[in-house]
Amino acid sequence: MTDQTLSNLLHEERRFEPPAELAANANVKEEAYDRAASDREAFWAEQAERLDWGQKWDRVLDWDDPPFAKWFVGGTINAAYNCVDRHVEAGRGDKVALHWVGEPEGDTRDITYAQLQDDVCRAANALLELGVSKGDRVAIYLPMIPETVVAMLACARIGAPHTVVFGGFSADALANRVADCEARVIITADGGYRRGAPSALKPAVDEAVGKAASQGQRVEKVLVVRRTGQEVAWDDTRDVWWHDVVDGQSAEHTAEPHDSEHPLYVMYTSGTTGKPKGILHTTGGYLVGTSYTHWSVFDLKPETDVYWCTADVGWVTGHSYMVYGPLANGVTQVVYEGTPDSPHKGRWWEIIEKYGVTIFYTAPTAIRTFMKWGSDIPAKFDLSSVRLLGSVGEPINPEAYIWYRETIGASQAPVVDTWWQTETGQIMISPLPGVTHGKPGSAMKALPGVGADVVDDDGNAVPNGSGGYLVLTEPWPAMLRTLWGDDQRFRDTYWARYQAKGFYFAGDGAKKDEDGDLWMLGRVDDVMNVSGHRLSTTEIESALVSHPRVAEAAVVGAADETTGQAVCAFVILRESATDDTGAVSEDLVQELRNHVAKEIGAIAKPRQIMIVPELPKTRSGKIMRRLLKDVAEHRDVGDVTTLADSTVMDLISNRLTSGQ
Ligand code: WT7
Repeated sequence: MTDQTLSNLLHEERRFEPPAELAANANVKEEAYDRAASDREAFWAEQAERLDWGQKWDRVLDWDDPPFAKWFVGGTINAAYNCVDRHVEAGRGDKVALHWVGEPEGDTRDITYAQLQDDVCRAANALLELGVSKGDRVAIYLPMIPETVVAMLACARIGAPHTVVFGGFSADALANRVADCEARVIITADGGYRRGAPSALKPAVDEAVGKAASQGQRVEKVLVVRRTGQEVAWDDTRDVWWHDVVDGQSAEHTAEPHDSEHPLYVMYTSGTTGKPKGILHTTGGYLVGTSYTHWSVFDLKPETDVYWCTADVGWVTGHSYMVYGPLANGVTQVVYEGTPDSPHKGRWWEIIEKYGVTIFYTAPTAIRTFMKWGSDIPAKFDLSSVRLLGSVGEPINPEAYIWYRETIGASQAPVVDTWWQTETGQIMISPLPGVTHGKPGSAMKALPGVGADVVDDDGNAVPNGSGGYLVLTEPWPAMLRTLWGDDQRFRDTYWARYQAKGFYFAGDGAKKDEDGDLWMLGRVDDVMNVSGHRLSTTEIESALVSHPRVAEAAVVGAADETTGQAVCAFVILRESATDDTGAVSEDLVQELRNHVAKEIGAIAKPRQIMIVPELPKTRSGKIMRRLLKDVAEHRDVGDVTTLADSTVMDLISNRLTSGQ
């Protein structure tokens, strides 16, 4: 974000009070902040009471060995039981848990809590039959279909941590994750529907199994859901159809409570180095954190609300606010398989109208896309059921906030801008819709029970009106417990920087306004945010360098109107890659873009690749991405005095202006 946009943001002076009726009936009132601050552990213990425990905990928080936290120590709990069975036992078995909407029109399924319970039990029994035991990791590579939710809950039920890999990731990315967490079983589908056509998944799994094997990880079973009916290659010793092994199982399975700290799942996310980090979440604290925040931030009335979070289950938002939080709260929700423009650009609004969605949670990049498509599209649908809107994934610019509020929320619905991360597991900073007024572009303040601040390099809180680094000052229940198999990297990445203060370093810049409210300014490390998805510059650089014709590469996230940031790559070719005149063909640039898609996934494909003769480096050899960002965003290049060779930027500009 440039200084200009920052000062524009901080001059944003519109304010929206909570609607009176919402405020009067709000789940959480102002007093919660003080109550939580005066005894944080008692506050979280009170929130834990919303769940059903096997054994109650003896200690709320064990922080004796920071940064390794244990929450609800000594307690036992089953996540699947809390998300499903207990609602059935309380007489709500006939309530719809999922209004599932497939992408092909008319392809829908309503699944009640009782049906979900049967399905989860059958799948749990099938996993046991396939030899999965408590503690074994299971990889899930599925489209947005009901079986995905069932598979996750079945794993949770038997205590087998899942690792869901986004269906848009490549075979390589899947293989690396499978190998890193040593999964012996993968659950997948023949394919899913995207943009009106079946899109295959199984071939990537077949390839990934081979690649994982070469990294020493044998995948013994691949469980395949038939979704599209497309042809699939089959290995009889390894592959089994979901309908063959799941459908015939008994619908009885007793959920054993697991230790509160039993691993629930590993979710891989990009860090500042090439290797993705396996974020480990455990059971008790995670469920407390997600269920409380889902109830408080969305002012959830489980009896009457119809909730819809548009995130893909392959990201943490899909885990915390589509599966665990909402189901623990027993809500009725929509799950949609496809893209927003299939078969027409009003598809989402049509779904809201059909199911009477009351709470809607999506990302700024989607909102900006709809703004571009025009307000007349949502105007064709009855959106009067909507009473609350949420935003997540990146800073929401005031224009998008206002459009969202006016066009989707009829200028009535509050917008909650929720800041959190894969690592935090739960929403950390957000307005409370019945308490906090809304400022377009601000995530406002830390939720009750959460400690956040903006600090300088030494960890001192900055005064109101100033910027710095966002830190979390207190442990919280859904916090990551470590990085899978790498405690040292966990310490180094998040805790080393402010070790003396014991703060968690979030990697985001933030500013406090004159009221002390928080404005998020994006990442301060080599992590990009493209359409609310986290991508690592280094990971894309190594993908580019793995191409035989690339000598060196530098990647930056350049501002983009729709996607927030876009991937821009600067590449130095090996000599043999240029023809006699030194020109580079457009084909090669295309080939490099496709190469990145193959290595990581289509989301990582650079918007732009610029072939350059040199890269700007400091004397110690570090690439100065800041200068490349200036080029990518068409700005005058900033201070070049720390470059080892100050003429490099001229060389780059000359090459680019001469049209390469
Ligand atoms: C990064 C975390 C949390 C689920 C989706 C992304 C950015 C997230 C906001 C927001 C400003 C935000 C941050 C954060 N971010 N929400 N409301 N305002 N920035 O999860 O992939 O782990 O990415 O997304 O930069 O560090 P993630």
